[in-house]
Amino acid sequence: MKIAVSGKGGVGKTLVSGTLASYFAKKGFKVMAIDADPSPNLALTLGIPVEEANRIVPISENSELLDAKTRTDYPGVYKLSFTVDDIVEENGMESPYGVNLLVMGTVKSAGSGCACAPNAVVRELLRHLMVERNEVVVVDMEAGVEHMGRGTASHVDTMIIVADSSRKSLEIAKKINGMANEAGIKNVFVVGNRVRDSEEKELITNFTEKNGLQLLALIPYDDTVIKADRVGEAPLKYAETSEGVKAIQGIAERLLQNKN
Ligand SMILES: Nc1ncnc2c1ncn2[C@@H]1O[C@H](COP(=O)(O)OP(=O)(O)O)[C@@H](O)[C@H]1O
Ligand SMILES: [Mg+2]
Repeated sequence: MKIAVSGKGGVGKTLVSGTLASYFAKKGFKVMAIDADPSPNLALTLGIPVEEANRIVPISENSELLDAKTRTDYPGVYKLSFTVDDIVEENGMESPYGVNLLVMGTVKSAGSGCACAPNAVVRELLRHLMVERNEVVVVDMEAGVEHMGRGTASHVDTMIIVADSSRKSLEIAKKINGMANEAGIKNVFVVGNRVRDSEEKELITNFTEKNGLQLLALIPYDDTVIKADRVGEAPLKYAETSEGVKAIQGIAERLLQNKN
């Protein structure tokens, strides 16, 4: 399974990706979690202690690694062909649930014209993870699919777009939905998060129905998720039976069924 989680900033992407990844690992799957958000914080949701998380150097900022992969004898000229499987082994950080986390750092969109080393390495790494490895991969990303590269995006089999009841997040969800379809992603779902009451539930349900978006699940507003954050524990560990975390486990189960 190759799952990408996208949506407007602050809607709950990291909560959803981190909890899905932890749950799959707990179930015995080999799981890679990719933090592809320019301001990465997936480590904490995976339950990695903050001192350890702070030591992580994102791939796109690891000049030693980038240099070793792409440098040639000619200044300004980069190697375009290199292998990246060793990066996974050497730069991953393991979470308490056994999820292997890779932090990508900032990746510019394909159209930005930047062919610099960080982009080349991160793109190739994403491609390798999506295309060549036989593991569950969960990517926590910023809104959109452009920075992944078209060929790689098409290997994502499930795009989960997180939205809340705000108009802005729903409009962004609609836009991402269109991009994901265009990129050839097979299953594109919306997940409504932080739902407090029937009014918010209706806002999300009506919007998705009206715009032909497939609503996979609704996650209720849940205080214990915020408390888990405060004490620095994975929500799955801290609040396994809370309504919010249970809803995300339900999503994981449905994705597994969908797969069989
Ligand atoms: N269902 C929920 N109930 C309560 N708080 C939530 C819920 N989902 C997310 N949050 C809180 O909202 C904030 C943003 O969530 P986060 O997952 O970091 O969003 P994103 O990754 O999309 O920016 C966090 O403080 C998180 O704990
Ligand atoms: Mg986030």
